[in-house]
Amino acid sequence: MISGTTRVLGVIGDPVAHTASPAMHNAALRALNLNYVYAAFRVAPPTLPQALAGMRAFGIVGLNVTVPHKQAVMAHLDEISAEAQSIGAVNTIANRDGRLVGYNTDAFGIVQSLKADGGLDPLPPKVALLGAGGAARAVLYALLARDEVEEVLLLNRTVEKAAALAADLDSAGKVRVGSLAETGPIGDAGLLINATALGMHPRDDVSPLADPSCLHEHMLVADIVYNPLETVLMRQAAAAGASAINGLGMLAWQGARSFEIWTGIEPPVETMIAAALEHFPA
Ligand code: ATR
Repeated sequence: MISGTTRVLGVIGDPVAHTASPAMHNAALRALNLNYVYAAFRVAPPTLPQALAGMRAFGIVGLNVTVPHKQAVMAHLDEISAEAQSIGAVNTIANRDGRLVGYNTDAFGIVQSLKADGGLDPLPPKVALLGAGGAARAVLYALLARDEVEEVLLLNRTVEKAAALAADLDSAGKVRVGSLAETGPIGDAGLLINATALGMHPRDDVSPLADPSCLHEHMLVADIVYNPLETVLMRQAAAAGASAINGLGMLAWQGARSFEIWTGIEPPVETMIAAALEHFPA
């Protein structure tokens, strides 16, 4: 029941109508019987400053931030976590008595999903990562923060973008940069992560790998795509005897971490995954 003391959480983005976050968070709030509600707010880029002023004025407890605001929002916050600063993007804002604090929970989400859903703990020493956009940036940050990861092969269509990303984040010299057209070296990796948009609806009939012969049975393939739930890359992985996970776990774990930042309570992640699955029917 929404009452006079119900507190508000939400997500801002543009577009935002198809987001699974309200389903996930409200399911967890209901399961814990917490007096919060989580809503989706479409915020056009020119009105972002007013939206954040509104967050302060209305005392909104927490917001997730999605495309296209993850970078732009940083200029309007009072404090930004070191992790979000390094990744260069904020996906979670907590309102602490009027002080807006920015976090990034995407890096936590990917590592937690690799552990919990992919059964990888520790991660393998050699990891291949596809892509050099915003999503790849958070994943690369997460991989480089893990001591057991000795080498990351970072492949992108535009090699210069991969080189720039590596130069930005890789202080220990762990990253090898290459082209998405040359997939042979992926064969040495125990984990392949797709952080490109390829395979995501509406481009769900393509794989980021032109030649899947580098996939093998001792490899986990993790696609950050969750719509569709099974991508062409995941089917290529299965055909090669590799295990594969989609991005639903990462979505749920990043959400779970945001939820904990706002409420101080660890949410039931299984409930969040089930709610997201209902939102994206197979
Ligand atoms: P996001 O923030 O979701 O990561 P992005 O910053 O637009 O989105 O990055 C998209 C990623 O998908 C990039 O790595 C992009 O490659 P380029 O850097 O070469 O643009 C990759 N990508 C998108 N469309 C692609 C395509 N048709 N072929 C290969 N890579 C593609």
